[in-house]
Amino acid sequence: MKHHFSSRVAGAKRSAIRELLKLTEQPDIISFGGGLPAPETFPHEEMAEIAAELIRTNYQNVLQYGLTEGSKTLRQAVCDWLRPQGLQVTIDELLVTTASQQALDLLCKAFIDPGDVVFCGLPTYLGAVQAFSLFQTGMIGVPLEDDGMNLDELERRIEKARDAGKTLKAVYVIPDFQNPSGITMSLAKRKRLLEIARREDLVIFEDNPYGHLRFAGEPIPSICSMDEEGRVILLLTFSKTLCAGLRLAVMLARGDLMDALVRAKQATDLCTSKLTQHLAAQYMLRYGLEKHLAEIRPIYKVKRDAMIAALERYMPKDAGIRWTEPEGGLFVWVRLPEGIDATEMLPDAIAHKVAYVPGASSYVDGDGQNTMRLSFSLATPDVIDEGIRRLAGVVKATIEAKAVPSTARR
Ligand SMILES: Cc1ncc(COP(=O)(O)O)c(C=O)c1O
Repeated sequence: MKHHFSSRVAGAKRSAIRELLKLTEQPDIISFGGGLPAPETFPHEEMAEIAAELIRTNYQNVLQYGLTEGSKTLRQAVCDWLRPQGLQVTIDELLVTTASQQALDLLCKAFIDPGDVVFCGLPTYLGAVQAFSLFQTGMIGVPLEDDGMNLDELERRIEKARDAGKTLKAVYVIPDFQNPSGITMSLAKRKRLLEIARREDLVIFEDNPYGHLRFAGEPIPSICSMDEEGRVILLLTFSKTLCAGLRLAVMLARGDLMDALVRAKQATDLCTSKLTQHLAAQYMLRYGLEKHLAEIRPIYKVKRDAMIAALERYMPKDAGIRWTEPEGGLFVWVRLPEGIDATEMLPDAIAHKVAYVPGASSYVDGDGQNTMRLSFSLATPDVIDEGIRRLAGVVKATIEAKAVPSTARR
C-alpha cells in the first residue's frame, strides 16, 4: 500500500535519544535521563479525595465537554495565584491547554508558516524543537552564557536572517533553570530581550515549567510580567508544580494573540479534560499551590545538593569538566572535554548501569557533542551518589581511551 504522508510528518524524526533511553527502564539502571518530576511530590491522597468527590457529586459537569478557553474556576484560581507574583492577569487572558507540549503545538499552528524563523537557545528543550520542526520552522540557535542567551549574538543572527530575506516570528526562551542547561536568564537580559523583541517586532514565547521550583537564590520577574505591549506569551505547566499526569497548563496571551490560539485549540481538541482542570482547581482552592510548592522545593534541593556533591567527589579533577549548579528545576548540565562525544559514550554508560541525555540532541546547529543533561529528580540522594560514581568511571575511562591531550581540554 502506498502511504500518503504529509511532507511535515515525513520529515519529522523520532528522537533517537528517546529510543535509546527506553533501554534505561530496566530496574538496575540508574537513570538521570528522563525529565520526570519526583512522584513523592504528587499530593496523591488529596487528589484521590477530590477526584472521588467531584465524580460523585459533580459528574454532570466534570465528565462533560467544557469551554475551549478552559474552566473559569481553574482560570480564576490561576489569576489569584499569579497576582501576588506581580502578574496581573484576567481570566480572558488565560487559555488552559493539555499541558505545555500542546501549548507549543498551538504556538506553531497560530504563528508559523513553513520557513518562518524562531530563535532559540543553544541548547534548548528537545520537545520544543520537535514541535517547531513538525511545522517546518527555521530554528536558529543562539549560544547561551552563564546568565542566559547571548543577546549580542541574537542581534547579529536577527540581522543576518533578515538580510537573507527570512520571515522572523519569535524568540523561544526558558528563562528559569532552563531545560536542559539549568541556566537562568538575568534580569538585565530579560529587559534587553524585551527591547530587542519590540524593536524587531518579534513575539517572545516564554516557557516556564521550572520557575516555581526555585530552592535557592532570589526569584527574578518573568519577562511576561514586564511586558507592556502584549508581545510575550507565557507557558505555565502544572506538570512540575502539581502532577505531570494531569496534562494541564495555562498559556497567558493578550488580545489578537489569544484569539488566534483559541481558534487553533478548538480545531485541535475542542477542550482540555474538564476532570483534570477541576482536580487542579479544587486542589488550589482547598490546599493552595504556594503551600504545596513550599513543601516540594526542599525535596529537589536535597537531590540537587547530592548530585553536585557527587560530581565534585567523583569526576576526574584536572580534565576540565564543568557543570552548572542550578538554583531550581531538575537539571544539571555537564560539559565534558572537547573531543569526548556523550552520544558515543552512552552505550558504555548503559553497560555500566547508568544513563543520561546526551546534549547534542538539544542543539539545533548540530553542536554540543561533549555535553550531557543529568536529571536529579527521580533518584534518592544515595542512588544519585552511586549513579554519579558509575558515570564518573565511564567518563574517566573514555578520556583515557581518547588520550585527550590537556591542551585540547577546556
Ligand atoms: C521547557 C519545557 N517545556 C515544555 C515541557 C512540556 O511539559 P508538559 O507538556 O508536561 O507541560 C517540558 C517538559 O519537560 C519542558 O521542559
